[in-house]
Amino acid sequence: MATAIGGKAVRQVPYGLYVRFNRFLERHLPAGLYPRSLIIVIAPVILLQAIMATVILDHHWKKVSSILSESIAGEMAFVIASYEASPKTPGVVEQFETFASEHLELDLEIQSGASLPPPLPVRRFSMLNHQLTTNVERMVDKPFRIDTAQSDMLDVRVLVEPGTVFRFVTRQKRAYAANTPLFLWWLGGSSLVLLLVAIVFLRNQIRPILQLAHAAQSFGMGRDVEEFRPRGAAEVKQAAAAFLKMKERIERHVEQRTAMLAGVSHDLRTVLTRFKLELALLDDVPQVQALKSDVDEMQRMLEAYIAFVRGDGDERTNEVDIAALLDDVAHDLERSGQSIVVDVEKPLLASVKSDALKRCIGNLANNAARHAATVRLAASRRDAHLVFTVDDDGPGISLDQREAVFRPFVRLDDARNQDAGGGGLGLTIARDIAHSHGGSVHLEDSPLGGLRAVVTIPV
Ligand SMILES: Nc1ncnc2c1ncn2[C@@H]1O[C@H](COP(=O)(O)OP(=O)(O)OP(=O)(O)O)[C@@H](O)[C@H]1O
Ligand SMILES: [Mg+2]
Repeated sequence: MATAIGGKAVRQVPYGLYVRFNRFLERHLPAGLYPRSLIIVIAPVILLQAIMATVILDHHWKKVSSILSESIAGEMAFVIASYEASPKTPGVVEQFETFASEHLELDLEIQSGASLPPPLPVRRFSMLNHQLTTNVERMVDKPFRIDTAQSDMLDVRVLVEPGTVFRFVTRQKRAYAANTPLFLWWLGGSSLVLLLVAIVFLRNQIRPILQLAHAAQSFGMGRDVEEFRPRGAAEVKQAAAAFLKMKERIERHVEQRTAMLAGVSHDLRTVLTRFKLELALLDDVPQVQALKSDVDEMQRMLEAYIAFVRGDGDERTNEVDIAALLDDVAHDLERSGQSIVVDVEKPLLASVKSDALKRCIGNLANNAARHAATVRLAASRRDAHLVFTVDDDGPGISLDQREAVFRPFVRLDDARNQDAGGGGLGLTIARDIAHSHGGSVHLEDSPLGGLRAVVTIPV
């Protein structure tokens, strides 16, 4: 099957093994880019090392060592057999000892009247011990005792006949390939150095990607990303430049909107003020009174609309004491005669747009105060989130309407309350502000019996 991506036809690998393998990797690989890249670099190196080590150990090292120990056992067998075959004239012992040390590099001591010392404990993991034992057993075919415990030296005693012990001492290097472990050390050491270089290099390559991710996240949460600059590989720079362009366009759009709004509100306010002045000059007949109240309502709606469209404008985030912020909100409401309980775990500092957040919580608290007698504001930090709750003991909002009330100009209040309320923008603005912080608002049942509004903001 072929798919067109970016104008080019791309062949798809058949669905099946490849996809399943990919899914398996996706499930078992760590989430971060850095550990993933490290695994991509480290896994082949370790695999290669394992294969090399197995091949060298199994084939080369073992074979060479086996041949060496076989030849040394053969030499011992040859010396012993020659001794047994020769007549035991005086001086024959010295003759054999000299012969062994001069021609075979074996220090031989023929001990008469001696017996074999007790056997040594088996050295399970010594390859030299194991191979030499096998070969001496096979070639010499007499009771013996091998001691490889001393460093560098090898000590083999053979009971040639009752009362005669041949003691062969030679260097261990003669019996096995001693440079192989060194080779393994080189193998391991050099790949460790390579890995360290790869880690440093990867870190440098990945840092710009992490910075880009962080910048995009911060921008999404309405924070400043002034210090961000495109860095790193060409593709990362390209993505970073695209992000900066997008950010610029969004900021320009917001700026334009704010400027246009300032113009519109200024013009409309001027006209409304003129209306008011002209109405004030007229006689206070009922029709004029009605007109005056219409103009007042129009002004109120205009203010609410402008506040909504302005959003959080270009307010910057800064470190705010959340307890103080909630106290301010409560204080403003208490001025209108409500009593509000504030419950904040202290100290709680967070970087937010303080005026906007105050408006968000203020709108929710206002709603609660309008519908209920008791209002409770609370804030706490849960993991990487700041969670605000506004509880009341009022009538609440039925389940099926909890989403609808967030839409602009939606009001549920009955006709009696219609005048007292605003324009139905309070919740819309609150949600807008939460979104601009990268967070959200939702409504649920309150333990106080009324409505609970929950604002969640990542920090
Ligand atoms: N705590 C609450 N208890 C009961 N109903 C509520 C509560 N909060 C909001 N509502 C209902 O949701 C509707 C929408 O609220 P919203 O804050 O958006 O508008 P508003 O309060 O009517 O006007 P505004 O906030 O613009 O002055 C309200 O009209 C009200 O009926
Ligand atoms: Mg409201």
